[in-house]
Amino acid sequence: MKEQLAKIEREALETITKAADPAALDELRVKYLGKKGELTAVLKQMGKLSAEERPAMGALANEVRAALEEAIESTAQKLAASALEARLKAEAIDVTVPGKAARQGHKHPMYRALDEIKDIFVGMGFTVLDGPEIELAELNFDRLNAEEGHPSRDWSDSFYFDRDARVMLRSQTSPMQVRAMDSMPLPIRIIAPGRVYRKDEIDATHSPMFHQVEGMVIDKHITMADLKGTLNLLAEELFGKGTVTRFRPHHFPFTEPSCEMDVQCHKCGGVGCPTCKGEGWIELLGAGMIHPNVLRMANIDPEEWSGWAFGMGLERTAMRRFKIADLRLIFENDVRFLEQF
Ligand code: DAH
Repeated sequence: MKEQLAKIEREALETITKAADPAALDELRVKYLGKKGELTAVLKQMGKLSAEERPAMGALANEVRAALEEAIESTAQKLAASALEARLKAEAIDVTVPGKAARQGHKHPMYRALDEIKDIFVGMGFTVLDGPEIELAELNFDRLNAEEGHPSRDWSDSFYFDRDARVMLRSQTSPMQVRAMDSMPLPIRIIAPGRVYRKDEIDATHSPMFHQVEGMVIDKHITMADLKGTLNLLAEELFGKGTVTRFRPHHFPFTEPSCEMDVQCHKCGGVGCPTCKGEGWIELLGAGMIHPNVLRMANIDPEEWSGWAFGMGLERTAMRRFKIADLRLIFENDVRFLEQF
């Protein structure tokens, strides 16, 4: 029995100290110390020993058990330590490895133009409004004094949602004039940029979706001189000091009188060139004095209050501002194009 114990101890200590991982170590613990383990099997034979032999054998068996337990414990600690070390090594971060540079984008040229326009008007005390692209035809047309049968009301020109043409994608930002009149106290000074939709085929100057910036002032004693002064300032701020403008008579249902404002071509100085299609002038926006009917429909007394309004195409303005030849470039989001700004 003594030899048996010595053999178990020798074998066990050797295999235990060589255990490769905690699972293997646990297997060994079961193999030697478990209920059906080798050491336990030997102890079960104690009963066969004589009374004199028993205590000495018992003490020896306990020594062996203690030695095995200690070996298991210290091996477990060693395995845990080396596992931790391996993990630290695997997870180490080398801060000297060169990083991957993130490609940084920048603002789209059209939104840069819009930011400039906003800055100019906010500097003059205007509020910037945002409004719905899905609009009531009532606000897009009726409340803007657009007569029944006006061509832009036609199904071939505008996108409607319902059979009776009550709800539509707004075809202009002008309904924001009505929304401002209905919701803000007088006097009012607002601009309202946003998307508008028309059934236009895509080409170098058209898109079924584009952007406009609406502007409106309502106060006492507002005249056409205020409109011209403000819009001349806008042109100079956008296109440079000394930019020459001209105002041509025009017709819009919601303004009277109405006009269009052109800026003199920056390329040829008014002589005529490909940029201005030989005209010497480039159309920038529509404007006018708010029609008394529009004021009345908003419960504003045209005898007491007057105002002016304008609407400009944002893509066109950006194209002019950044000398972009084709409208489609603005929407295609080709980084080779966008990176140039
Ligand atoms: N809404 C007009 C359009 O889309 C542009 C416009 C003209 C807006 C005159 C105005 C204005 O506010 O006074 O063609």
